[in-house]
Amino acid sequence: MQLHLMTWQDVESYLQHSKGIIIPIGSTEQHGPNGLLGTDVICPEEIAKRMGAEDDVLIAPTFNVGCAQHHMAFAGTITLRPSTMMAAIMDWVNSLYKHGFTHFYFLNGHGGNVPTINAAFAEIYAQWSLDANDPSGAPLTCYLQNWWELPGIFDLCNKMFPQGHGAHATPSEVSLTYYAYPEAVKDVTMTPKIAPNGPIKDAEDYKRRFPDGRIGSDPSLATVELGEKIMDASVKSLSKSYKAFLNAR
Ligand code: NI
Repeated sequence: MQLHLMTWQDVESYLQHSKGIIIPIGSTEQHGPNGLLGTDVICPEEIAKRMGAEDDVLIAPTFNVGCAQHHMAFAGTITLRPSTMMAAIMDWVNSLYKHGFTHFYFLNGHGGNVPTINAAFAEIYAQWSLDANDPSGAPLTCYLQNWWELPGIFDLCNKMFPQGHGAHATPSEVSLTYYAYPEAVKDVTMTPKIAPNGPIKDAEDYKRRFPDGRIGSDPSLATVELGEKIMDASVKSLSKSYKAFLNAR
């Protein structure tokens, strides 16, 4: 179930039997010569959407712009400052909490978001600790899960792509987007075949080190068929991970 396709009465009914929600969170940023700008949005969104439909779990609208300053030398990238992103995450969580949600599972698609999401969680808990008269603890729980680190998925992707998986514009994430949007498949010859590795700093430095946008990867290995396998495994893994999150004490 997706929040934006429900009425307010539907949400009230959902809250009668669950206080949990999954929030896909990503980034709109370049993904090399054959990857979509929405790759980090599409991966968590499509995994969550499919899992939510099977398990009757509510999926929030996708938080679709993240921390991508290092990709700003490539056309189309949109970034938030970490402070802006933290403020927006806090407003999303506080809005949903106001309606009765208590369990917030963020399914993330972009490594560059991780420190900022964790910092936003720290602010949310600090807000409760500083304001609360009730010493029994925050009545809400936030959880961050990167989709590629869902149990079993990292190993699966490394087996599929023993060479050229890399760190940005990876064949696994591009495969997932090709499965979701087969019309996006592009046949591009990568030069060099496997992109260089290196540190991430500012946008100009990034473009000098990684001229076509990739880091360590060969996304020409991406296919719709492999994307389907990664999707099926990710949906199953998310289902287990989300249930464990709801049941954790
Ligand atoms: Ni990505």
